[in-house]
Amino acid sequence: MERNHYITEAELERQKKIAEAVYLETRDRDLKYFVETFGCQMNVRDSETIKGELVEMGYSEAPGKEEADLILYNTCCVRDHAEKRLMGNIGALKELKDRKPGLIIGVCGCMMQQEAVAKKLLKRFPHVSLVFGTNVLYRFPEMLEKVMNGERIAVTDRADDAIAEGLPQMRDNARSAFVNIMFGCNNFCSYCIVPYVRGRERSRMPEDIRREIESLVRSGISEITLLGQNVNSYGNDGSTGMTFAQLLRYVSDVPGLKRLRFMSSHPKDLNEDVIQAIAAIPNVCHHVHLPVQSGNDEILRRMNRRYTRERYLSIINRLRELVPDIEFTTDIIVGFPGETEEAFSDTLSLVKEVGFAAAFTFAYSPRQGTVAAKMEDQIPEPVKKRRLKQLNELQAEKTVENNEKYIGYVGEVLVEGCDMRNDTTMLYGKYQNFKMVYFPGDISLLNQYVTVRVLQTNKNSLLGEMIDE
Ligand code: 5AD
Ligand code: SF4
Repeated sequence: MERNHYITEAELERQKKIAEAVYLETRDRDLKYFVETFGCQMNVRDSETIKGELVEMGYSEAPGKEEADLILYNTCCVRDHAEKRLMGNIGALKELKDRKPGLIIGVCGCMMQQEAVAKKLLKRFPHVSLVFGTNVLYRFPEMLEKVMNGERIAVTDRADDAIAEGLPQMRDNARSAFVNIMFGCNNFCSYCIVPYVRGRERSRMPEDIRREIESLVRSGISEITLLGQNVNSYGNDGSTGMTFAQLLRYVSDVPGLKRLRFMSSHPKDLNEDVIQAIAAIPNVCHHVHLPVQSGNDEILRRMNRRYTRERYLSIINRLRELVPDIEFTTDIIVGFPGETEEAFSDTLSLVKEVGFAAAFTFAYSPRQGTVAAKMEDQIPEPVKKRRLKQLNELQAEKTVENNEKYIGYVGEVLVEGCDMRNDTTMLYGKYQNFKMVYFPGDISLLNQYVTVRVLQTNKNSLLGEMIDE
């Protein structure tokens, strides 16, 4: 397979040399970074790369903004008021910059891929000296070096829609990791800005993905989540020689990999092969995040989702048939242009019918440049708000119902953290099918697998006890 959608080795080498030079130049200064990440797992993963690059250049993490020599916001533009909030945050940094003239303030991520927003930001805030989008992370050393030398840098074009392999990464989680399998999106759902900012689909080569997983597992990580805007279309451009179902099989037998997850799935591409793979591969987790967006066929059509309610339900039913303990989570938008009360009630009835373990619900937010933003029958904000509330109330009931199924359930949990509750240390973690459970235990069990029996439910969560297997 050809690697013509990759950044060349020579270019990566050039960036490495620059990073080295920056390191040598600044190593006596004990430079500190503060990176704040907004939005989805893609951005979280991108920030891990940027932090890795910073560490390579001699930076370490600052405890807070005040102590930082570089403050970077990794932004999201999928919904709403993010822009206003960002502008507020950046505005508030002016005073810090006045006190610390050497401070570098940067903004990156999806929002900066929208040229008009990036321009506005640069014009309004002279104290911002570094702006870049999502596809040029590999060029970060070069950009930072220039900024250190007093230049103001803005790279917001998408000319480099290519994949960069082998960039450094700073993972702050010792048990679980995200691994990109593809970038970009080709679907153009009519409400969504992602295809405009993140560009066309590019899939990584299977060997690179497997190698990354092997190295993560060697470092002690046992849970991997394969990431893509629409993982089911992995390899659709023919560049990888593998479909998503094949990729699942290909990476699942990395020794020591206990849990293999993936997200997000698109109902139009989640086919029988993938269903069979989920059912057959022992360490593929029994959880599918399957955004439905709406339960009404006309709205789905206007959203350009390319599936019907019936097709969505048939995937759910087929998966439940083959994998009885599977759990589903979803994304739903209310108040999409043209959504009548009747159409909205179809969404409510779908939520009732499926019984999602959890739903991420959003009021439709027009994104400039998308098809839906220009549709005529926009829904008034108060109606969207009311529908969102109604939907959330219904899902809350369904969550309780879903939890009740688990009383008496016994399974393995990967411990993720702890809370103090009335002087008791309550550990929490997930079963393989994504259900979260709280139970008393010692913090030394962090990142370990323990067996937990569910005793009762408490509003949104399960409460249990550890048992010996
Ligand atoms: N308005 C509201 N929600 C949106 N999403 C994406 N674009 C918009 C928008 N313009 C939601 C979808 C998607 C999730 C990541 O964000 O539900 O699945
Ligand atoms: Fe946006 Fe649709 Fe692509 Fe998801 S699949 S990123 S909702 S266009």
